[in-house]
Amino acid sequence: RDLPLILGIETSCDETGVGLVRGCELLGDEVASSVEQHVRFGGVVPEVASRAHLEAMVPTVHRALDGAGVKLSDVDAIAVTAGPGLAGALLVGVSAAKAYALALDKPLYGVNHLVGHVAVDQLEHGPLPKPAIALLVSGGHTSLLLVRDVATDVRSLGGTVDDAAGEAYDKVARLLGLPYPGGPHIDRAAREGDPMSIRFPRGKWGDGTYDFSFSGLKTAVARWVEDGQRNGDALSVPDIAAAFQASVADVLTRKAVDACVAHGVGTLVISGGVAANSGLRALAEQRCAEAGIELRVPRPRLCTDNGAMIAALGAEVVAAGLPPSTLDLATDTSLPV
Ligand code: KG4
Ligand code: ZN
Repeated sequence: RDLPLILGIETSCDETGVGLVRGCELLGDEVASSVEQHVRFGGVVPEVASRAHLEAMVPTVHRALDGAGVKLSDVDAIAVTAGPGLAGALLVGVSAAKAYALALDKPLYGVNHLVGHVAVDQLEHGPLPKPAIALLVSGGHTSLLLVRDVATDVRSLGGTVDDAAGEAYDKVARLLGLPYPGGPHIDRAAREGDPMSIRFPRGKWGDGTYDFSFSGLKTAVARWVEDGQRNGDALSVPDIAAAFQASVADVLTRKAVDACVAHGVGTLVISGGVAANSGLRALAEQRCAEAGIELRVPRPRLCTDNGAMIAALGAEVVAAGLPPSTLDLATDTSLPV
């Protein structure tokens, strides 16, 4: 009861997330998604997302409070995603957080969305060992982070130089005629396919960096599909999905495990929407076990964008005694870690 009650607000993309957290305890977590409104466009439309956040914000805050059995006046601090993300979407969340902070006379903390994806693991697996390596794989991001302290010391080791991992899934799904968002559809199709049937390229494999590239892989899949159509071959969607997934999982897990070994780190956290991928999880489990690394993957609900991750990070920032943000807190669409 001594720990402060943190209200977390997340609006960086198409999910309006509100979470309530005390320390490592998850009390409330509500997400309103506008994903159905983007399906017919095959991707998130920023203006549509911003309007949806505006409509969903207050009802989602109240659902989270009700779910947690607490009142707005019980909240001790407000944490909000300041970036990275879509400009208009971030503005809705930050404006709402400022209004709550001002009305309640409680401190406001602008936090980094990417680091929130790491902090959320504490709600499931308890305090994060220090240091840890985190692999964030979502529709918007692919980064490898060295996390010495989630509130005060997070360093980027590398990231994608082109498409994010989830973006690659979504684009390849489109090539294969699967609906958006394509990740779960490819995952399902891949279970019926043979990952060894096609050898797709491994972007930036063995280049000595912790960077990733998925655009060459996407092009290779596109060429495979075109060649098949031209030659009148029967394309096996399951085989293509399985071979594509094998390439993505191979580079992601290899570089993440390499980073752990190089930095003498015994814990790997994998988070973001793509962390739900069964091929990635299986290979990560195998390679972490071989290398003696503890693997932590939060449940899918916590891996995708949500407010609890922002509240979890807010709790750490408050505990670290960092100064609150002022009411002129700005959003930053490309906020670095
Ligand atoms: O974290 P998230 O919900 O939103 C952000 O992008 O921030 O991640 C969404 C991404 C989408 O690209 C989606 O296709 C992908 O995660 N995804 C998956 C799976 N489930 C979701 N990708 C591969 N396999 C999955 N099972
Ligand atoms: Zn995210």
